[in-house]
Amino acid sequence: MAYSDKVLDHYENPRNVGSFDKNDDTVGTGMVGAPACGDVMKLQIKVNDDGIIEDAKFKTYGCGSAIASSSLLTEWVRGKTLEEASQIKNTQIAEELALPPVKIHCSVLAEDAIKAAVSNYQERHGEAAEAEKKSA
Ligand code: FES
Ligand code: FES
Repeated sequence: MAYSDKVLDHYENPRNVGSFDKNDDTVGTGMVGAPACGDVMKLQIKVNDDGIIEDAKFKTYGCGSAIASSSLLTEWVRGKTLEEASQIKNTQIAEELALPPVKIHCSVLAEDAIKAAVSNYQERHGEAAEAEKKSA
């Protein structure tokens, strides 16, 4: 299978590989697996006081397309709000990387991972938000 230049670029020079402390208050963690192939992707976001994603990191145990999808995604979500980040579609990733049909699920994994990271952040902040409302 021929990988596109963009996939190879992200695969050979992945951006933002690593992780944050998942117990850090400013961090949201998404961990998802692809049933089709068993690959696993962990994506984390670091959110500032204004609700903007200021940093993102990933660790992907998977194919080149999955690594490229998560690498690209960490670049895309920086500077976005949680709302904007959770609206990123796998089709945008697949298009940017020119993924062939058999590799579409790799980009789905990335979409699932960012959605999971945003939900995790929101869940962990649900209580804090309630407390703020009460004290306001
Ligand atoms: Fe996931 Fe290829 S099937 S690594
Ligand atoms: Fe399964 Fe890419 S994530 S082949």
